[in-house]
Amino acid sequence: MTPTTLDAAVLEDLVSAAVAAPSMHNTQPWRFRLRPDTHTVEIRAALDRELRAEDPDGRGLHLSVGAAAFNLRLAVAHHGWEPVLRLLPDGREPQLLVSVRLAGRRPPERAATEPDLYQQIWRRHTSRSPFSARPLPGPLWTEIVDAARVEGVHLHLPDQDETRRLLGLTYEAEARTISDQDRREESRRWVRSGAGTHDGIPPEALGPPDAAGHLPTRDFSALLPAAWQPAKVFEQHPQLAVLATDHDRPADWLRAGLALQHVLLLATRDQVRASLLHQAVEWADLRWMLRDPRQGPEHVQMLVRLGYGPEGAPTPRRTAGSALG
Ligand SMILES: Cc1cc2nc3c(=O)[nH]c(=O)nc-3n(C[C@H](O)[C@H](O)[C@H](O)COP(=O)(O)O)c2cc1C
Repeated sequence: MTPTTLDAAVLEDLVSAAVAAPSMHNTQPWRFRLRPDTHTVEIRAALDRELRAEDPDGRGLHLSVGAAAFNLRLAVAHHGWEPVLRLLPDGREPQLLVSVRLAGRRPPERAATEPDLYQQIWRRHTSRSPFSARPLPGPLWTEIVDAARVEGVHLHLPDQDETRRLLGLTYEAEARTISDQDRREESRRWVRSGAGTHDGIPPEALGPPDAAGHLPTRDFSALLPAAWQPAKVFEQHPQLAVLATDHDRPADWLRAGLALQHVLLLATRDQVRASLLHQAVEWADLRWMLRDPRQGPEHVQMLVRLGYGPEGAPTPRRTAGSALG
């Protein structure tokens, strides 16, 4: 396959793979454009999909776009091209966040040595249900630490004391978010369902609250009584992974999104489910406290909860056609 065979069907598959990525509140804050002259697919921020109250600096938006870029890179390789990814490729255009060039045929020997995570793109869903007590196998932890490192991101595995501390900060964040009218109303707008809905989170994808009160899942039910679910007992020792970067610039946020998606797809491959605990990262003082001083001066970008449990419900996506342009 050569770049000249990039037809409409393949382009649609590339963009569909990208938009299957997770995004904050499933806002899908991206727009894609093909540059046929350079065989490049560009991803821009869709600023009309910003979360002004909860993500005023666009950090979460960049993470979401980074995750989409990871899928796009995988899909390009899956279709036989060598993907060349650039972050913030044009300083004159800050909304242009990522470009992926289809740089000729991918050497078959390279494809043979890398795990093909492409199929996992379609199987991955956030799972907000309780997980079992079964620990993740050591080799998978090693693999996800390495996967994050490949993207230039640290992935830490907090011990039980540190996990308790991180969950405590997440509780504090959750309480603040619930009592902040702007943030509460913004979240509420993105909980939606019904025919013709292509974004946002349907109530069936939300999870129950934790009956024991130690796992602070994002409390959508308090925001939307129709989405309320009875409390359930969650795992006593949640297994967290903390994604952190050395700096805190837009390129670091994009890298964190690449790493996040890499980790999520490796987990999906091994039937490991994941949910995200982002609340404390959304409050500057709590985000500062999420740092583990033993790890040095880092910036926490995401808490990922991993474990064995039910697959999450699918959430809707805009079509590739409507995300192009
Ligand atoms: C930057 C970012 C922050 C997120 N924060 C949370 C969160 O705090 N709580 C949560 O339950 N899900 C969170 N999510 C998951 C999204 O809600 C989810 O990806 C989206 O609804 C699409 O669903 P899917 O992951 O099942 O495809 C976050 C996702 C991203 C990319």
